[in-house]
Amino acid sequence: DTHEIRISTLEKSTSCSDDQPVLESFLREGIWLPHSCTQGTCGTCKMKVLEGEIDHRDSSEYTLTPEERDAGIALGCQATPRSSLVLEPVEQLDPDDGVVRHPLKDVTGTVVTLDDIARDIRRLVVELDEPMNFNAGQYAEIKVPGTDVTRQYSMANPPSQTDRLEFHIKRTPGGIATDGWMFREMQRGDRVELKGPLGDFGMNTPQEEPAILIAGGTGLAPLKSIVQHALADELAPQLYLYQGGRTRQDLYDTEFFHRLEQQHEQFTYRPCLSEQEWDGATGMVTDAVLEDFTSCKGLSAYLCGPPPMVEAGVKALKRRRMAPRKIFREEFLDAS
Ligand code: FAD
Ligand code: FES
Repeated sequence: DTHEIRISTLEKSTSCSDDQPVLESFLREGIWLPHSCTQGTCGTCKMKVLEGEIDHRDSSEYTLTPEERDAGIALGCQATPRSSLVLEPVEQLDPDDGVVRHPLKDVTGTVVTLDDIARDIRRLVVELDEPMNFNAGQYAEIKVPGTDVTRQYSMANPPSQTDRLEFHIKRTPGGIATDGWMFREMQRGDRVELKGPLGDFGMNTPQEEPAILIAGGTGLAPLKSIVQHALADELAPQLYLYQGGRTRQDLYDTEFFHRLEQQHEQFTYRPCLSEQEWDGATGMVTDAVLEDFTSCKGLSAYLCGPPPMVEAGVKALKRRRMAPRKIFREEFLDAS
């Protein structure tokens, strides 16, 4: 069955089937609603159910408390409709924020590049059968063949390139998508099913303040897209990219960023190693930021990587007096 669902504040409605999360039905229609992880962990997609009945499905108590459930709140990325619905996003929506959003869609493509580029990291490039528009910083959900499992990976290419998507994949030991497929059986020429774009991370409009970008591991992927996009469209007066790793074996695309640094005066690249002495910066990547900036007042930041690194980065930036609303983050949470 399909049901009509409506967003009270937008005067917009769509139809949604019994087994489709309500958020997805809006995104497929090109109607933007707040969301981030689409896997029930961040809580950005909370909605109040004003009319009708929903099925919470796998919504966890950590993200949606029993009290919230009782108050009629649901996770848009998990909940499916049982009747027609009227919904209202909990997070404020600004329809005039000047950001162009692209509808979510299913796409297929062929693996054209699969290279080992650092310790336990592969570059995967998928040539799409039809183009997919996205904003720098967004991600796609890739389906593991022969299963119902999907995993999120951020696009690393600039959004001007819509027919070839670049991903940076880190091997998770025992992981279904990475260890079990992308690092084992996947080969050039393989067919891939994915859907996108998803997520709200990114620098989508011009900003007056300089930006600090901090990457841990494959958290570099969305930042590589953002840096290329921001330099091409002159979105920020100055960009400082920090890339953290334990040893040189963890770093990749260093030549690419050094070249970019030579081409663009407003771009600075700072790779940083925590467990190896070398001629570059050493220590934790967040400490390198603390050393370089005595004050971060009036600056903005974009952080991406494992949650502990992102947490440490946010703490460091706040210590340097960066305004919390100027700190944007994407955490690579495990799907488990
Ligand atoms: P999973 O199967 O999900 O395993 C997760 C955990 O469970 C691991 O600790 C694993 O050891 C454990 N586990 C798995 N199977 C078993 C078992 N049988 N017994 C015991 N333990 C087990 N990652 C990237 O590399 N690049 C990106 O650009 C990227 N972008 C992301 C963007 C977003 C918005 C999010 C939320 C995540 C992103 N990730 C990215 C993370 C990625 O989506 C996956 O979570 C990651 O690749 C692990 O997937 P997996 O299927 O290999 O591991
Ligand atoms: Fe729904 Fe994160 S919990 S988008």
